[in-house]
Amino acid sequence: MKNLKKLSIAAFAVAAAVTGAVYAAGDAKKPRQVDWSFNGPLGKYERASAQRGFQVFREVCAACHALKYFKFRNLEDIGYPEAQIKAIAAEYTMSIPGEVDSSGDQIERSGLPKDGIPWTFDNEEQATAANGALPPDLSLITKARHDGANYLYSLLTGYDGQTPDGKYKNPYFPGGVITMAPPIMDDLVEYADGTPATADQIAKDVTMFLAYVGEPGLEDHKKRGVLVILFLLVMTILSYFSMKKIWAPVKRGEDVMPSSEE
Ligand code: HEC
Repeated sequence: MKNLKKLSIAAFAVAAAVTGAVYAAGDAKKPRQVDWSFNGPLGKYERASAQRGFQVFREVCAACHALKYFKFRNLEDIGYPEAQIKAIAAEYTMSIPGEVDSSGDQIERSGLPKDGIPWTFDNEEQATAANGALPPDLSLITKARHDGANYLYSLLTGYDGQTPDGKYKNPYFPGGVITMAPPIMDDLVEYADGTPATADQIAKDVTMFLAYVGEPGLEDHKKRGVLVILFLLVMTILSYFSMKKIWAPVKRGEDVMPSSEE
């Protein structure tokens, strides 16, 4: 018994040390917590915020970051009408890799709803050389990082000065130093819907949009979850009353078994 106690204390100490080491290796500050509209069992993406976030992504982040799992037609999910989606897509020029015309020039066409935002760079090497580090694809950023939406929001709003070698201090980034210059500031964009574009608002909106891109099916999953729980609740109530009815004669002390003498 005593040995068992010692053993469990030792096991606990080892587990604590390992967890500590893992956290130390990450050594990033715990993200600030935001009460996102998509949290909770009935959570939804706030349409207007996600639309503003799309504007921020196109006008700011897309200068460096790709968003390869996003297609213009997805914009329907966050409330854009079809005609506007076509118009937005058509603002972009797509070059089709490997397809050249008779004089050897790359064939280009204007964007369609099935396309995504073309990446500024031809490949990762070029993107790395231009930026000093690779700007990662942001399609899944809120899923790929622990507490992803809060991480993204905190990272964007958490800059804390420069390092002597021209990088930036940011306690939310693992290691505390990031190559990306602060990408947002007050009034960096002008919102079509008139919302004041504070840095905080911009960070929240682009996070709302990227959370949607990372998990487009979230609202359906949540709706289905609620229906399943309602169904189970109804079944539980039904089975309670039918059990009550079935066992009532037994409770009253009646002889429920058919007698063999008859
Ligand atoms: C001028 C180029 C540039 C722009 C504009 C830019 N980024 Fe970055 N971003 C980078 C680079 C480079 C890195 C990699 C930094 C590193 O590894 O130190 C990065 C890293 C990040 C990361 C960290 C990813 C991780 O690994 O956890 C996030 C999140 C991010 N960017 C989001 C954004 C968002 C959102 C915007 C738009 C508001 C934006 N960036 C605009 C260049 C840019």
